[in-house]
Amino acid sequence: MNILVTGSNGQLGNEMRVLSSAHPNHQYFFTDVIEADGVSVLDITDKAAVSAYVSSNAIELIVNCAAYTNVDKAEEDEATALKINAEALGVLGAQGVRVVHVSTDYVFSGDEHVPCRETDPVAPRTAYGRTKYEGEKRLLAVCPEAVILRTAWLYSSFGNNFVKTMIRLGKERKELGVVFDQIGTPTYAADLAQAIFTVIESPVWRPGVYHFTNEGVCSWYDFTIAIHELTGIQKCQVRPILSEEYQYKTPRPHYSVLDKSKFKKTFNVTIPHWMDGLKRCVRRLDF
Ligand SMILES: NC(=O)c1ccc[n+]([C@@H]2O[C@H](COP(=O)([O-])OP(=O)(O)OC[C@H]3O[C@@H](n4cnc5c(N)ncnc54)[C@H](OP(=O)(O)O)[C@@H]3O)[C@@H](O)[C@H]2O)c1
Repeated sequence: MNILVTGSNGQLGNEMRVLSSAHPNHQYFFTDVIEADGVSVLDITDKAAVSAYVSSNAIELIVNCAAYTNVDKAEEDEATALKINAEALGVLGAQGVRVVHVSTDYVFSGDEHVPCRETDPVAPRTAYGRTKYEGEKRLLAVCPEAVILRTAWLYSSFGNNFVKTMIRLGKERKELGVVFDQIGTPTYAADLAQAIFTVIESPVWRPGVYHFTNEGVCSWYDFTIAIHELTGIQKCQVRPILSEEYQYKTPRPHYSVLDKSKFKKTFNVTIPHWMDGLKRCVRRLDF
């Protein structure tokens, strides 16, 4: 199959590139808004460029890893976030090919107390969440056969993320306050890339919205403790704090655990625990 991967310079896009070598039965077209080694330029908001790229390369499936992911900046520039996270989905979905798209736990309010199912009502509280939900709707309106994987708390050995920040701060500081009243599931982008290949290579195409994260739950505080333990950081004392002490620019969900039962049942897979994913990621990092 000819597979177009957008956003290939990002965390998930890079993990797709790594994992593609284990799936040599496909031909891959890795793209991003900025050119890089092995990555050609394709701006997903450029309708003419997307159509030309899909037809000239006989693309059969699009994996959309491109997004506007900066939650705070999206509040200040919702118009740009809307273009990339929503309008572009109408473009990608209209190409007449299969689409696997990635969405977020931010479509929910974060006020829940039990893991969210795909059928639960959405209530995004942020510009990022609103634009991502709008993207889901625009994609499904033109491509009802699309697969949408909602994920959360993504990290990788590629790009900047919470894991790398906590390693850096752990080395720089003697003391660090990290919130313990936000609960979720850290998700290794390599495991999400594996889930995307599970979808792509399923003998039967199974469209729909699915939730996918690693297994288990923790707070950002617990996650930091695990990161420091696994990287041998001992001199930094990590202190649990409340979200109100941290003074976020944009509200963060207090509870954003996703129920993955539908994905596991549909594709007959088990999902690694977040600690297992973290161990594998840490092995790939220099610290
Ligand atoms: N990160 C998380 O914690 C998290 C949580 C839940 C869901 N998700 C979702 O998971 C997916 C993957 O996230 P990620 O963390 O891998 O994101 P990421 O690291 O920010 O990567 C996104 C990539 O898309 C590129 N991009 C931006 N605008 C584009 C455009 N117009 N055309 C083509 N490429 C464009 C970005 O380039 P620039 O960097 O140059 O803009 C970047 O290389 C996204 O859909 C995200 O919404 C992420």
